[in-house]
Amino acid sequence: MKPFQGLKASSGVLAVLAVSAVMLLSGCERPPIDSVQHGYRGTGMVQVYNPRIVEASQDIHTAPVSLPQAPGDGPLAGKVYKNVQVLGDLSVAQFARHMVAITSWVSPNEGCTYCHNPANFAEDSKYTKVVARRMIQMTQHINADWQPHVAQTGVTCYSCHRGQPVPAQVWFKEPDQHRGADFIGERAGQNLAAESVKLASLPSDPFTPFLLGDLDIRVSGTTALPNGNRHSIKQTEWTYSLMTHMSSSLGVNCTYCHNTNSFSSWEGSPPQRAKAWHGIRMARDLNNEYMEPLQPTFPAERLGPLGDTAKINCGTCHQGAYKPLYGAQMAKDFPELLKSAAKRDVVAKK
Ligand code: HEC
Ligand code: HEC
Ligand code: HEC
Ligand code: HEC
Repeated sequence: MKPFQGLKASSGVLAVLAVSAVMLLSGCERPPIDSVQHGYRGTGMVQVYNPRIVEASQDIHTAPVSLPQAPGDGPLAGKVYKNVQVLGDLSVAQFARHMVAITSWVSPNEGCTYCHNPANFAEDSKYTKVVARRMIQMTQHINADWQPHVAQTGVTCYSCHRGQPVPAQVWFKEPDQHRGADFIGERAGQNLAAESVKLASLPSDPFTPFLLGDLDIRVSGTTALPNGNRHSIKQTEWTYSLMTHMSSSLGVNCTYCHNTNSFSSWEGSPPQRAKAWHGIRMARDLNNEYMEPLQPTFPAERLGPLGDTAKINCGTCHQGAYKPLYGAQMAKDFPELLKSAAKRDVVAKK
């Protein structure tokens, strides 16, 4: 054996190692990472942020500048136009401002004709107009009746739509959730490497049971014996699946809402957890009262694999921020979106 042969071989091995190290580390985030203390000292309640990711996503969390207010005097839109069912008590100028605003929030590239037949603005021939009318009522309902969640910040169409007709984060029911997985029994939507649960082996659709149905989220049993205690490992996996979605939608760690010495204790939890509790009920309400009933209005190409409409989860509004648009108070510039729609609910039909 020649003296340098062994060395050559090992430098080959080193090169392979170096390349694989680079490949492995490229999956990691480069330091420095910021951490912000969120609870009492010593509780480990720390939020971890990558400042470069936060900076790169700044644009999607920036609210657009509101249009100047329009005069409220002159004839009312409900009197002047033929088919105004929700915004009838705005002045014609305010109504026009509203139309320009929703166009820029929902269909800036398509323009007014995304919802209107330009030959007759009064007719409801496009499904998008029928959906938009219901969306105006839904936005009013969120702002008026869900203040325990949205506070005075509120929402506009832009909170979800961000300049596109279909919001970036929506969900559909998934097929094959309950199919048997060979010998291990029902797979409960697990091991599908789904983005909804950040590729963890958790049930990939926590939305149907919790944000449409009202399955119990608590997992700490209240009785010692299994008899009558439905809190099982399987149930816990569903809860963790929802919690993973909530964390990733808000761009936060579990400790934003929990002190991990007891996930179930409300006393030890930061106030954000109570906000989130209302958020879960709000998303459920919006999906059941607004999104699902619109199903017959939507064309087939907008429906999911099981024929349901696109629905709302935490990501639809938050899109990765602890507050949508970092808490920008856009809604206050659109008072017509703040009042309750309860009295004038129009039934959605085709
Ligand atoms: C995202 C959908 C959408 C877009 C885009 C849109 N509109 Fe509308 N428009 C509606 C809805 C919904 C109504 C009915 C509101 C109601 O019932 O209170 C309406 C009603 C109207 C009416 C009243 C027609 C009548 O006689 O009943 C006019 C006028 C109008 N829009 C003009 C415009 C103009 C101009 C634009 C573009 C700058 C525009 N709209 C963009 C959804 C839209
Ligand atoms: C809480 C989130 C949310 C808010 C707020 C919201 N929307 Fe939507 N919107 C949705 C979802 C989810 C859909 C279903 C997506 C689809 O069309 O498949 C949708 C669909 C639509 C569509 C149909 C688009 C298409 O191409 O199918 C229109 C038009 C629309 N919204 C207008 C509005 C208007 C106008 C407002 C404000 C008055 C508004 N939305 C506020 C979530 C929201
Ligand atoms: C945005 C706030 C928020 C975040 C982030 C969050 N949770 Fe939760 N968590 C809640 C709320 C609210 C409940 C109670 C839900 C209910 O009962 O309706 C809850 C309940 C739970 C429960 C059940 C407790 C019981 O009473 O049995 C567990 C376990 C849990 N969370 C774990 C986690 C884990 C693990 C993470 C991180 C992956 C996490 N949570 C992230 C808000 C949050
Ligand atoms: C309709 C839009 C919308 C949806 C859907 C939504 N949120 Fe929110 N959320 C908001 C708004 C707006 C605020 C800001 C309220 C404020 O300024 O106090 C907020 C605030 C919060 C906060 C408080 C943050 C803080 O630091 O004070 C938490 C926690 C939260 N949301 C969790 C959730 C969770 C979890 C879900 C899903 C189950 C959810 N939200 C769904 C609009 C939404």
